[in-house]
Amino acid sequence: MLTGGHRGSDAGKGTQLKNVETKLIEEFLVETGDYVRERYAARERVAVVAKAHASDLLTEVDLTVQKRAVEAVARAFPRDAFIGEEEGLARFPANPDGRCWVMDPIDGTYNFVRGLLPMFGVSLAFVEHGVPQAGGVLFPVTGDLLIAERGGGAYRNGQRIRVSTVRTLEECSLGVDFGDGGDRISLFERGAGLLRAVGQLRCLGCAVLSLCQIATGDADAYVHLTLTPWDYAASQIIVEEAGGRASRLDGGPLRLFDGKRGVLFSNSALHDAIVELFD
Ligand code: IPD
Ligand code: CA
Ligand code: CA
Repeated sequence: MLTGGHRGSDAGKGTQLKNVETKLIEEFLVETGDYVRERYAARERVAVVAKAHASDLLTEVDLTVQKRAVEAVARAFPRDAFIGEEEGLARFPANPDGRCWVMDPIDGTYNFVRGLLPMFGVSLAFVEHGVPQAGGVLFPVTGDLLIAERGGGAYRNGQRIRVSTVRTLEECSLGVDFGDGGDRISLFERGAGLLRAVGQLRCLGCAVLSLCQIATGDADAYVHLTLTPWDYAASQIIVEEAGGRASRLDGGPLRLFDGKRGVLFSNSALHDAIVELFD
């Protein structure tokens, strides 16, 4: 699901990441992996409910992972805000510039429940001034842990990762995902030129995997019209620290709590060409 070793990882080198927030993220994700793996292996016994519609799913695993993260953050940083997809925490912080933790307990819950693809991840970021300062994503099935902090680089399982060197849209593998049916129509309308131009197109139903694939150089770009901050906060810094770029669809800066929608992530080299092709 993630390879990327052939494109620039520094095998054998440990991470240089030092911040206490980064350490909390790493420890939390490592501790959580066994629990999520065990529940995924026994997923027919996992309690599931539908939220907004029949395929918008919530499991007991989402709730437990988020609750554990809230507790871990509160123990270490009791004054920090916490934003998460579930349980009434899906809101913007009262102070959008303050210290804030942003979690998606399971990104790709539909994949988890259906066993459709073993593609789902646990995502936790530390944010200040609306910009992620540290972030980690764990893919429990493979055990891949991607982590980054501002200015410190991005790593997968302790090895430095870099985005691809792909420079042309004909070679580009583009990821897309959709929030709902309206989104699908809008993307095909607004992104028609882009969808026609790229060499390959993928839709995994797991934003964090599509984004981390850009960071490892396995894919080159990703577009989503309605992605929410918890879907991308951790992956944003992982992509940026791997040499990629994150923006709004018009190329403008990506701030988590600016109320705007639509995101573009790329390996940097392709970014301007993609902005150009998007209406
Ligand atoms: C969803 C996934 C999907 C994206 C949706 C998200 P969830 O997150 O990331 O790929 O298209 O917009 O809501 O519900 O699995 O956490
Ligand atoms: Ca999500
Ligand atoms: Ca989720």
